[in-house]
Amino acid sequence: MSADKSFYLTTPIYYVNDAPHIGHAYTTVAGDVLTRWNRQKGEGVWFLTGTDEHGEKVMNTDKSNNVSPQQWCDRLVEEAWKPSWTALNIANDDFIRTTEPRHEMRVQRFMQLLKDKGFIYAGKFEGPYCIGCEEFKLPGDLDDGKCKVHGKPVENLSEDNWFFKLSAFVEPLLEHYKKNPQACEPTSARNEVIAFLESGVRDLSISRSTFDWGIPVPWDRDQVIYVWFDALLNYATAVGLGDEPDSDGGKKFAKTWPADVQLVGKDILRFHAVIWPAMLMAAGLEVPGKVFAHGWLLVGGEKMSKSKLTGIAPSDITDHFGVDAFRYYFLRAIPFGIDGSFSCEDMSARYTSELANEFGNLASRLIAMIEKYCDGVIPAVAHNSELAMKLAQTVDVADKAICALDFQGGINAIMDYCKRVNGFVTEQEPWAIAKDPARVEELNAVLYNTADSIRALAILLHPVMPSTTEILWESLGANTTLGPIGNQKIADVTKWGVLPAGSKVTKGAVLFPRLEEKLESN
Ligand code: ME8
Ligand code: MG
Repeated sequence: MSADKSFYLTTPIYYVNDAPHIGHAYTTVAGDVLTRWNRQKGEGVWFLTGTDEHGEKVMNTDKSNNVSPQQWCDRLVEEAWKPSWTALNIANDDFIRTTEPRHEMRVQRFMQLLKDKGFIYAGKFEGPYCIGCEEFKLPGDLDDGKCKVHGKPVENLSEDNWFFKLSAFVEPLLEHYKKNPQACEPTSARNEVIAFLESGVRDLSISRSTFDWGIPVPWDRDQVIYVWFDALLNYATAVGLGDEPDSDGGKKFAKTWPADVQLVGKDILRFHAVIWPAMLMAAGLEVPGKVFAHGWLLVGGEKMSKSKLTGIAPSDITDHFGVDAFRYYFLRAIPFGIDGSFSCEDMSARYTSELANEFGNLASRLIAMIEKYCDGVIPAVAHNSELAMKLAQTVDVADKAICALDFQGGINAIMDYCKRVNGFVTEQEPWAIAKDPARVEELNAVLYNTADSIRALAILLHPVMPSTTEILWESLGANTTLGPIGNQKIADVTKWGVLPAGSKVTKGAVLFPRLEEKLESN
């Protein structure tokens, strides 16, 4: 592996049968937070998301909307998916669509390679298929002839297809997960995958012959490639899979592959932890470092879903709470890996207590006091060893947690520090010290130590709440003196006395306005 290998993170590529809901946003925001965190650690990062556009499910949606599949996909991608990610401040480096020539060409080349290596053979598929899952089912997966996931009748297929020798990889996969437990997390997900592998796995049909919305099988133009075989490859085609080593694509691949973290919802764990690594093993390629299956956002106890029309649009929430509160809330409230329900009451409560009162208020109190007592200028650098020590512990805990995808643990550690700084201000009572002109140095020290703590908080919270922390950064005058907040390194956060004395603070916008006011102004 090359020394300058990028940290490569992927999200699933989502079906464009409808616009995104907060479930899709949940995965994508989590990926954005981890990649922003790693960028601030100074690592090279590559963050990929995109859309899954082939297969019967998308094709049927197009039909019912009376447009061609390609037109439908173009419209949804440009009018719904990409704008949603922009609105949520997602800093992805690339966006792949499976209808792009760069993807289709590399998928065909990969499939030909597996055929040449003897892993693909002709066979007949007979059995049930759920279009909602885009998955060949076993009788045990059905309830009264209906797919257990979608509650809808399945199709009964009888087709001559091309098959992938998936069964040949059961042993290598079991070996892989035994040797590398971190390759599939959390533990519950790994256990599920191991049990599935141990229960016996059949070869997989990887082509379809009854419709044509897909990538043609290179040696058999009457068939299109099975949508999952096509879609899983996006992670590798997007970074140059199979290109000549000295070409741009080949160099990109060497610098990026294997993916370090693949985020998925637990609904698509098996595809990612069984089929996908088997495909890679068959081609002789490295498998990803980790697939992490997070839990579901539930509505009425069930998985929020496009097909069941229970999806809440991210904008329904951000219009009221703001983008940063949205990004914060789901990662803060739900342990990553476990199901959780969205509740407007819980979100309002946390918004008010944690964001507005704890964090926003600390910042506005500090700025107001510096304006009042120090003519709006950051006073001389001071040192507080208790705060400095607590900060060092915080960064250590937060970094370990976030890198282990324990976003809740990471955010909690940072917010605990915020609480501690608030406590410090309350205990020191700078407003009381200010009454005595003889104690001006003491006053300045309290204000400086508070300001430098807020400098640290802004940097640590930037990956989670990029725009609010940027506003705060501006109002600390740090943009002029220290440069853009996104360039600040996590490793430097614990240095004390970084915020330069003499910086001019300005009262910026209220970071987290009271929710009632917000509703009125809408
Ligand atoms: O499965 N809670 O796409 P998809 C949490 N195209 N996350 C959720 C969620 C919920 N209620 N609903 C969706 C596909 N998600 C395939 C993937 S990848 C090669 C192909 C998130 O549009 C979660 O990440 O059905 C889940 O795995 C993904 O969206 C499924 O999106
Ligand atoms: Mg789905």
